[in-house]
Amino acid sequence: MASFTPSSASDRAPGATTASWRATVLTLYPAMFPGPLGEALAGRALADDIWSLDCMDIRDYARDKHHSVDDAPFGGGPGMVMRPDVLADAIDGARASMEQTGGTTGPVIYLSPRGTPLKQSRVREIASGPGVTLICGRFEGVDERVLESRDIEEISVGDYVLSGGEIAALTVIDACVRLLPGVMGAAESLSEESFEHGLLEYPHYTRPRSFEGRDVPEVLLSGDHERIRSWRHAQAEKTTRIRRADLWAGVTDECGNTRARP
Ligand SMILES: C[S@@+](CC[C@H](N)C(=O)[O-])C[C@H]1O[C@@H](n2cnc3c(N)ncnc32)[C@H](O)[C@@H]1O
Repeated sequence: MASFTPSSASDRAPGATTASWRATVLTLYPAMFPGPLGEALAGRALADDIWSLDCMDIRDYARDKHHSVDDAPFGGGPGMVMRPDVLADAIDGARASMEQTGGTTGPVIYLSPRGTPLKQSRVREIASGPGVTLICGRFEGVDERVLESRDIEEISVGDYVLSGGEIAALTVIDACVRLLPGVMGAAESLSEESFEHGLLEYPHYTRPRSFEGRDVPEVLLSGDHERIRSWRHAQAEKTTRIRRADLWAGVTDECGNTRARP
C-alpha cells in the first residue's frame, strides 16, 4: 500500500496519519494517484493532513505466478472480468490495515456505470464520515459475487462508460475533500453552490464591466444586497427550471409546495 503526500509516495507507514478523513483506493493503476488530487485545493489539504490517501494495488493480491487479476467471463462474451477471490482479498486487506491503525474504512464503494448516480447529498454524507474506500474496476467490470459477499455499494459518476474506475474515484474524492472543514476558504461559497438548495447556481460576473458588448447586469453594480440576493435567487430558479426539469420538480416554495407546474 502506498500513502501519498502531494508530491510523491511518502515514507510514512501506510495508514499512519493524523488526518481525520481517509480515502483508500483499490486499483490496478496506483500511479494514477494522487494525480490531480495532489494539486490546488485538494493538494494543499493533503499536505496539511486534513485528509489522507492510501492506494492499494489489487495486483498485489493475485494468487498465481503471473499475477493474474482477471479471467474470461462464464457464458462467453467479450472482454475479461476481475476475479472475485483476488478482489475480496484486497478489500479484506484494506479493512484489516485500517483496523490495525484504529480507523474504519467508511463506506466501501465500487465505481460502476450500473451504480446509483452520485448526488451532492451522498457526497455530503461521505464527507461527514470517517472516509471512504473506493474500488476501481477495469475490463468488463468485477465478478458480481464479490459485490454481494462484501456488501459493496455501487456508485456511478454519470451515464457514460469510462475505461476504468480511477477517474471516477478521483471525482468522488475531490467532491468530498472540498467539503471537509478547513479546505474551502469562505463557508458561504459552499452554501450558495449548485445543488445545495436543490438549485443550480446563479451566473457569475467579474471585471471588465463590459466585455465584447455584453454588460454586467446593472443590479450587481447597485450595492443593494437585498436586490442582488433576490436577483441571484431568481436566476438560480430560472436556470434550474430551463436546464434541469428533474431538479426543478423537487424545488419547493416557502409553503413547501413544488414549483414545477403539473
Ligand atoms: C469499461 S468499464 C466497464 C463497463 C461495463 N462493461 C458496463 O457496460 O457497464 C471499466 C470500469 O470503469 C469504471 N467505470 C466506467 N464507467 C463508469 C461510470 N460512469 N461511473 C463509475 N465508474 C465507471 C468501472 O469501475 C468499470 O468496472
